[in-house]
This record gives sequence, structure tokens and C-alpha cells, in this order.
Amino acid sequence: MPVIIEEISRSHDRKAFNCGIPELNQFLQQQARQKNKKQLSKTWVACFDSPSKTSTGYYTLTGYTVITPPEYKDYTRYPHPLNAVKLARLAVDVTSQEKRVGERLLVDAVCRTVLVSEQISTIGLFVDPMTPDVIPFYRQYGFLPVESKKGAGLEMWLPIKTCEEIFNAAL
Ligand SMILES: CC(C)(COP(=O)(O)OP(=O)(O)OC[C@H]1O[C@@H](n2cnc3c(N)ncnc32)[C@H](O)[C@@H]1OP(=O)(O)O)[C@@H](O)C(=O)NCCC(=O)NCCS
Repeated sequence: MPVIIEEISRSHDRKAFNCGIPELNQFLQQQARQKNKKQLSKTWVACFDSPSKTSTGYYTLTGYTVITPPEYKDYTRYPHPLNAVKLARLAVDVTSQEKRVGERLLVDAVCRTVLVSEQISTIGLFVDPMTPDVIPFYRQYGFLPVESKKGAGLEMWLPIKTCEEIFNAAL
């Protein structure tokens, strides 16, 4: 059955969602829609194109401010906080993992980051990988470690130029 990506709504069946990480399941089931409504974060759901719209993956974006800029030629000496987008959550149900749903969701998040850059500016998409296992997943799309955050848990970012390349390839 085809999978579509839509902004979270009451119509999405989220009860059985299980990505293997309870915190990420609970967020989708109990918090994501309310946070959407209150403009605290924005969640997009991958669901089966069926009347029940069973959710099989999701990602959540928030605004982000970079106080210590990444060690990147355009920003190292810039004195002010920089606008960015945070990939706050990304998860795929265990029954759909390794079927490119995670990639589709990530590309969708990257495309939205480019749209943000066109409206209010952003230096890129940032993520805190939840576990070391997931770092290679992000690295393969061009995410770089944020060197300035060394020692404070790994943060990664996808510079806006790379986001634009992915956006153009997805058109
Ligand atoms: C990480 C996750 C989102 C990946 O989604 P997915 O749908 O299984 O991944 P895809 O099928 O789209 O994989 C795309 C590519 O990434 C690779 N990949 C997937 N998970 C990976 C991982 N953990 N490490 C390295 N590569 C990974 C796939 O092998 C595939 O590579 P290929 O092009 O060489 O075939 C999913 O496994 C998940 O939800 N995990 C649990 C929650 C989690 O850890 N979320 C991340 C929070 S920061």
C-alpha cells in the first residue's frame, strides 16, 4: 500500500506505532498533535493511503538558534545567533524500517528546511542523534558533526547548501 506524508491530524491512527524507542512512540501518540496545534513544533506523518491512515513513520521540526556557530567558513566570525531548523524527532515503525520510509521522511524534512530558508533564512538542519548507531544514517546524506559541540553529546548539521542540493535532486 502506498505511503504518503501529511501534517499530523486527528485522522492519523497512531495507537500501534512502534519504532523500538518508547520515548519516540509516546511523543507521536500523546504529544505531537497538541504541540502542532500550539505551534511548539511541527510533525509530519508517513501513513498508509487508506481510510485508517495508519501511521508508519514521522518527523518533527522546530526552530533552532545557533549561538556557537559551526566551524564553517561562512560563520566562524559571525557575532550574532544564527537561525536554523532542528530535526527534533525522526522515527519509522519497525514493520516499515529498511524500506526507505526514513529516507523519504528525511528528504521531506530537508525540503521544508529549504522552504524556511527562502522565507526567514536558516543555516541548515540540525539533529542530535539519539544513539551512536544512527550517526551513519545521517552521515550518508551529508550531515557533518558540529565540531564546536564536542564533548556535549554529538550534534550534527546539514548545511543549507547541501539541503538545496537534496531539494533540487528531489524535484
Ligand atoms: C533510523 C531510522 C529512522 C531509519 O529509517 P529506515 O526507514 O529504516 O531507513 P531507510 O530504509 O530509509 O534507509 C535508508 C538508508 O539508510 C541506511 N540506514 C538505515 N538505518 C541505518 C542506521 N541505523 N545506520 C546506518 N545506516 C542506516 C539503510 O541501510 C539505507 O542505506 P542504503 O541506501 O545503503 O540502502 C529508523 O531505523 C528508526 O526509526 N530507528 C529507530 C528510531 C531512531 O533511532 N530514530 C533516530 C532518532 S535521531
